[in-house]
This record gives sequence, structure tokens and C-alpha cells, in this order.
Amino acid sequence: QWTTASIVEDQIARIREQIGEDGRAICALSGGVDSAVAAALVQRAIGERLTCVFVDHGLLRRGERTQVERDFVAATGVKLVTVDARERFLDALAGVTDPEQKRKIIGREFIRVFEQAERDLKAEGDYRFLVQGTLYPDVVESGGGTGAANIKSHHNVGGLPEDLQFELVEPLRLLFKDEVRRVGLELGLPETIVHRQPFPGPGLGIRIIGEVTADRLETLRAADAIAREELTTAGLDRDIWQCPVVLLADVRSVGVQGDGRTYGHPVVLRPVSSEDAMTADWTRLPYEVLERISTRITNEVAEVNRVVLDVTSKPPGTIEWE
Ligand code: XMP
Repeated sequence: QWTTASIVEDQIARIREQIGEDGRAICALSGGVDSAVAAALVQRAIGERLTCVFVDHGLLRRGERTQVERDFVAATGVKLVTVDARERFLDALAGVTDPEQKRKIIGREFIRVFEQAERDLKAEGDYRFLVQGTLYPDVVESGGGTGAANIKSHHNVGGLPEDLQFELVEPLRLLFKDEVRRVGLELGLPETIVHRQPFPGPGLGIRIIGEVTADRLETLRAADAIAREELTTAGLDRDIWQCPVVLLADVRSVGVQGDGRTYGHPVVLRPVSSEDAMTADWTRLPYEVLERISTRITNEVAEVNRVVLDVTSKPPGTIEWE
């Protein structure tokens, strides 16, 4: 009979055995639940000999860096290095509008930044182990390989190059998502991390339709924060799979705000219900909630003068717009 507590104990023992008395490990944190729980387990097992690396690529939502730097660290005592790579990513993305190209650039830059962090750490000590939050379904999927059509080149923060000189530590390999969440709670991680909805590795970079710039990111972050706040207030977080907010940065429409004519941008709300993200239905959010989100975004975010709702299921639409 596997209880959550016995899974934790068992994994801690296995990690200690794998890493040994004086081995050191690195873990790339994304802000998501899998890497956070994997890191928290390894921290319990080897303490200070684990160093977590968090790359701020500037494509995060409001408050996400704090969630990792303050809340996750407070809950676990993990040793954390944050790399501020915001400018580097903006430079690399300048002028790029094609979705696949954005994904490739973000993935490539992430690996470069992580490799540099890894070299810096290796100069200080013998870091031989790399912690990854691989889950059981990932293991099955990559082993099964029936090759479903590759619709988007997914970039996960765990998606590191294969030539890294590391031995992998994967304490979640036998677990499903709901078990991972229970382990996270057992380890005392904040609810905001344990129950975080999916968020793509390339972040807001693929939710700006058009070129990614610092101003556009600020606009989208503000609109996204309002939508998330209102969904949380309405108690809907557990009912929806996720609700991307998408900025149509190259589209403008005429509006009237206050006494004046505006020529601003629309944002799209994309609330979806799903079991596994392979298929999804658009969520019938209550009109009052939609109204509050729309009113607040158009009042509080100067560049946005229109809020529209995406009522497409998947298929034919994907969840993200890019
Ligand atoms: P799509 O847009 O393909 O998204 O219907 C399915 C799910 O995957 C998430 N997603 C990603 N996650 N890296 C990720 O880690 C990515 O590049 C990526 N692209 C999409 C998306 O948010 C949804 O939950």
C-alpha cells in the first residue's frame, strides 16, 4: 500500500543512494509543478548539495519569479541561482514573428543560458547529476514512439541537450500528475505551485501574435494578471484547464475610451476544459466573470481597447494560438 508519505520516504532513500555521500546535483526550475516537486525531493535527500537554476527569460507572467525566488525557497530551503536573461531573449527575438522560429530561438537561448550557469557551477564543485521532473506519462510517451504528427515543436524547460555530461536523477518517473501534486503538498510546497495550471515553456513569447517586445510583454502581463485574478476570485481555477490570454499585437481596432477615440489592440481570452490537452473544449465561463475581466482589462490596460472570446474547440484549434 503506497501512501504519499511512503513514496516520499522511498524516493529520498533512492536519491541518496544514487547521488552518494558527496555527489552534487543541478536542477532547472521552470516555476511549474514537476520541476518544483522533483527539486524539493532532492533537496530533502541531499540538502545543500543541490543547486537549482532558474532562468528568467522575461516571458514569465506577473509574480512568477517571486513565486520561485521567495515562496518556493521559503518552503524548501533550496539553494537557488537566478539568471536574469531578459535582455538576451528580447534581443534574440527581435523582428521574429514566425511561431516555430520563436519556439526554436527560445529553446536554443534557454539551453545556452543554462549551459553557462552549469559551467559556472562546475567551476565551484563537481556537479555530476541533473534532476529532471520526468513523469510516468512522459516516459511512456517517449518510449512508445508511434510518432503522432508533430504539430508544434514543444519546448520544455526540462528539454536540455543530450550531450550534457550528467547522470539523470528522475524521482517522479513512476508517478502520475495527481500523485506528483500530493507529493508536493506532503513536502509543504505552496498551493500556487502545486496546483498551477499548465504554462508553456516559451511563455508569453507565443502569446504575443507578432514580434515580441518589452512593451508588448508588459501589456500582456497586465491583461493576463487581471484575467487570472478574476478567475481565482470566482473560484474557477480548478474547473478550467487553463486560460491563455493572447495579445493580437499587429491588429488594431478603433474604440472610444473616456472622451477620446482610441486605436488599440485586442486581447483574446482562451479558457479551455481538458483532461490531457490532447483535445479540449472551450469553457462556458459565467457571463459575469467575462464581463468583469473585460471591463477591468479595458479600464486598466491602456493599450487594450477590446476583449474577445475564443470559442473554438481543439481540434481544430490548438489551445495556444502559436
Ligand atoms: P497546444 O497549443 O498544442 O497546447 O494545444 C497543448 C498544451 O501544451 C502547452 N504547450 C506547451 N508546453 N512547451 C510546454 O511546456 C511548449 O512549447 C508548449 N506549447 C504548448 C499548452 O499550454 C497546453 O497546455
